[in-house]
Amino acid sequence: MAKLSVRDLDVAGKRVLVRVDFNVPVEEAGGKMRITDDTRIKESLPTIELLRSKGAKVILLAHFGRPKGQPNPKYSLKPVADHLKGLVPGVVEFSPEVIGPKAEAASKSLPDGGILLVENVRFFKEEEKNDDQFAQSLAKLGDIYVNDAFGAAHRAHASTSGVAGHLPKAAMGLLMQRELQYLESELADPERPFLVILGGSKVSDKIGVIKALLDRADVFLIGGAMAYTFYRVMGIPTGASRVEEDKVHLAQELLNLAKAKGVKFLLPVDSVETKEFKQGSEHRNTPVLHPGLGITEGWQAVDIGQQTISEYRAEIAKARTILWNGPVGVFEIPDFSNGTRAIAEALADSHAKTIIGGGDSVTAVKQFGLSDNMTFISTGGGASLELLEGRELPGVSALTQV
Ligand code: 3PG
Repeated sequence: MAKLSVRDLDVAGKRVLVRVDFNVPVEEAGGKMRITDDTRIKESLPTIELLRSKGAKVILLAHFGRPKGQPNPKYSLKPVADHLKGLVPGVVEFSPEVIGPKAEAASKSLPDGGILLVENVRFFKEEEKNDDQFAQSLAKLGDIYVNDAFGAAHRAHASTSGVAGHLPKAAMGLLMQRELQYLESELADPERPFLVILGGSKVSDKIGVIKALLDRADVFLIGGAMAYTFYRVMGIPTGASRVEEDKVHLAQELLNLAKAKGVKFLLPVDSVETKEFKQGSEHRNTPVLHPGLGITEGWQAVDIGQQTISEYRAEIAKARTILWNGPVGVFEIPDFSNGTRAIAEALADSHAKTIIGGGDSVTAVKQFGLSDNMTFISTGGGASLELLEGRELPGVSALTQV
């Protein structure tokens, strides 16, 4: 990680422009936006507090939702600024202007240790185009740039990438640093056995990750609907389950690669199948990976079965490093959540380094109240997948090399 760190900056009295990922889930209640999970905001606080403690003026840049380059009150960051006020002491201001004289004046009049969150950068179409003029206007809000928005680091946008070139120093924040440490450095040379658990609905989302990790992992445990595309390759009946027909050849290629590399690539030996995709519907455990068996016609698989849970648990107990991305069943529906819960519990009990690689598996771990038992939980969805695929993140490559 040869990038400048926020810890190395001399920031007293300076305006530090910090890109954060405050793209948090919200719900509307009585005409007001309520943040339902503020993890991303809280995870940015160490960087913000470090800068404040050193006497910096902290100017926060963030996006919220996808307003398509137009101002839209529905996507205003004002409720996030109000929420932030409840989390940190001292001055927390909000600028309805993203760029221009008023926003610049607000950044300059901020007291040392004060925070200014500016409105959603995606209210300008120039943001997602990484427009250089717009990046230059953003740069006028600060003297130094820090990127702590890991969740948006896979976007080459003006506030995540372009702006860095218009300020003398561009450093990574503490959250960015931790994300890179766990999802990149620690997995480059993991303690073995290195186990990868992959789930989720589409094999197409995980092809890049599987290919990249086949060289490093010892065991893969597959779950979720992506397993059914592999069943198809093996000629196992998939009933009414979701199968990505156009990805069957890729699934075949991955199975061949795993075999050639001697990597253990496990698929569920049994599944929970149902006729209806809803809580309370008739469902049953069915053996799948046996000659002549499979998912019953007209039924769809929605979770890994009991035998699979035992086998996966045994693999988890042996591992020293575990990466988990994607639930192994439809955990949002309690009847179909057993498998995902069992995996989360097995990880919580394990002595391995447990890294939860973003997205729905993070939601699952939180839902089961097991977040504190994991070594690291990523705040990135798409960003963590791209990093795991071994791709360079534009938000990282734009930072100052040391
Ligand atoms: C996310 O929520 O994954 C990030 O904030 C990136 O958002 P985006 O997918 O709208 O670019």
